Amino acid sequence: MPRFWVHTFGCQMNVHDSERMESVLQSQGFVAAESVEAADLVVFNTCSVRERAEQKLRSEVGKLKPLKRERPELVICVAGCVAQQEGERLLQQIPHVDLVVGPDNIPELPGLVLDQMAGSPPVARATFDVAAPRFLAVAPAPGQAPASAYVTTMKGCDERCSFCVVPYTRGPERYRPHEEIVGEIAALVAAGTREVVLLGQTVDSFRDPGLPPPESDDPDESQFPHLLRAIAARVPALARLRYTSPHPRHATASLARAHAELDVLARHVHMPVQSGSDRVLRRMIRRYTRAEYIERVRRLQAARAGLTLSTDIIVGFPGETRAEADETLSLVREVGFVSLFGFKYSPRPHTPALKLADDVPEEEKSERLARLFEVGEEMTRAHLAPLVGTRQTVLLEGASKGGDGPGGGVSHQGRTERNEIVHVELPRGVAGAGAIVTVEVTAAFRHSLAGVIDPVSLSGLPRRPAAAPRRSLPVVGSEGP
Ligand code: 5AD
Repeated sequence: MPRFWVHTFGCQMNVHDSERMESVLQSQGFVAAESVEAADLVVFNTCSVRERAEQKLRSEVGKLKPLKRERPELVICVAGCVAQQEGERLLQQIPHVDLVVGPDNIPELPGLVLDQMAGSPPVARATFDVAAPRFLAVAPAPGQAPASAYVTTMKGCDERCSFCVVPYTRGPERYRPHEEIVGEIAALVAAGTREVVLLGQTVDSFRDPGLPPPESDDPDESQFPHLLRAIAARVPALARLRYTSPHPRHATASLARAHAELDVLARHVHMPVQSGSDRVLRRMIRRYTRAEYIERVRRLQAARAGLTLSTDIIVGFPGETRAEADETLSLVREVGFVSLFGFKYSPRPHTPALKLADDVPEEEKSERLARLFEVGEEMTRAHLAPLVGTRQTVLLEGASKGGDGPGGGVSHQGRTERNEIVHVELPRGVAGAGAIVTVEVTAAFRHSLAGVIDPVSLSGLPRRPAAAPRRSLPVVGSEGP
C-alpha cells in the first residue's frame, strides 16, 4: 500500500482541501505515512496569497531534493494555489517535482499518482471545473467526527480586489447546492460534530436557485441568510454555526436579521476590512467606504448583543501614506476588533495592483505592521482581561499540543461562542473533545484564556474518547500577531 504525506500551507480552505486529498487517497488504498522519509508520495498543498508563503513552499520542496535523489521512485506533488498559478512552469522550475495538481483537480489525484508510480512522465493538471463544479464531502464514522468541522459552501471569487491573486488561483464563484451542504452538516452532526464553520472565499455571496429569492433588489444581496436559516431549521442538533470569510459588501441588513433570529449563529464574525482609509480602499477595489464598513458591523452588533469582530489588514499598499496607515489604526480602535491578522502588502502575479508601484519601503511596511500589532494586542488585552472571573460556555476541541497539564491532568483547548481560545485541564481518562462545558475563567494571556471546568460539567463528561480533535488552524504562512 503506497504511503502519503501531506504538507499544508495557508488558509482554512487549504487545510480543508488537504483533508479531502487524504480522504480520496485513502479511498484508493493509500495510507498515511509516519514521516516524510517513509512516504511514497509527498503532497505540498500550497498558498500563493502572499509572496512569503510561496517562497516558503519553494524552500520546503527544495529540502526534498536529497530524498528524491536517494529514492527516485518517490512521487512529489505540488497542489493548491501555486499549482494553479504556475501550472506546467513548476515542472521546469523545480525539476524534482513530478506532479502539479490544481485545487479543482483533487478527485483526479490518486489516478495521477498511480500513473507516476507506473512510470508516466511528469504532468500538470490544473483546470477549473466551471461547467460541472465538484464539492467533495467526507462522511465520518460515528464517534470519529471532529468537534468542529469545516464545510465548503462555495469556491472561487468574483471580486476583483486589486491586491488579490485568489480569483486567478481559485477561478470564478461556484456555489454548492444547499441540499448538499445541509446533508453534509447533518451527517457530521449525527457522527458527533458540534460546531460547523462554513467556508468560502466570499462566503456571504452565496446563491442557490433552490432557496427563496434574495430579500431585496439590492445587487449586493445574496441568499446566504437563507442558507443559514435552512441549516438551523434542518439540523437543529447543531450547537454552533460560524462562517468565514464574509465580504463586507454582502453583509446586508438581511444577514444582520439572520444573526438576530438564529441562536445557533456564534456571536463572532471575522470580516476582513484591509484598510481604514477611503482612498486606499478605493485603490484596493474593495467597493465600500470606511463609513459603510462601520455601519455594517454596527448593524451586526445591534442584531446580536455582545457580538465581537476580528479582521484582516494589509499595510503598505501601493501609495499608502503614513496618514492613511494611521487611519487604519484609528479604525481598529473605533470598531474595537478583538483580534486581527496583519500583512505587509506583497505584489502578486496577475493582480491589478501590479500596475501600481510597490512604493512603500520594506522598512516602513515593517514599522506600520508593528504599530498595527501593537494596537491589535492592546485591543485583545482590553477584551480578554475583564473575562477573568466570568463563566463561559466552551466547546472542547481536543487535547492541546504537549498534552500534560500542570495539575497532573491533560491540557485541553476549547473555544467560547465568541471564539476566545480557552485552556483547561481534564483529569486523565476523561474524554473532553466535543463536549460543551461551563468554565470559570481564571487567567487571561496574550491571545487566550485559561480556566477551570465547573464540577457539574466535569461530572457529565464521558470516560472514553467522544470525538476526534479538530485539525489545527492555518498551518504555515499565517502571520497573525
Ligand atoms: N499582500 C498582502 N496581503 C494580502 N492578502 C491578500 N493578498 C495580499 C497581498 N497581495 C491578505 C488579505 C486577506 C488575507 C487572507 O491575506 O488581508 O484578507
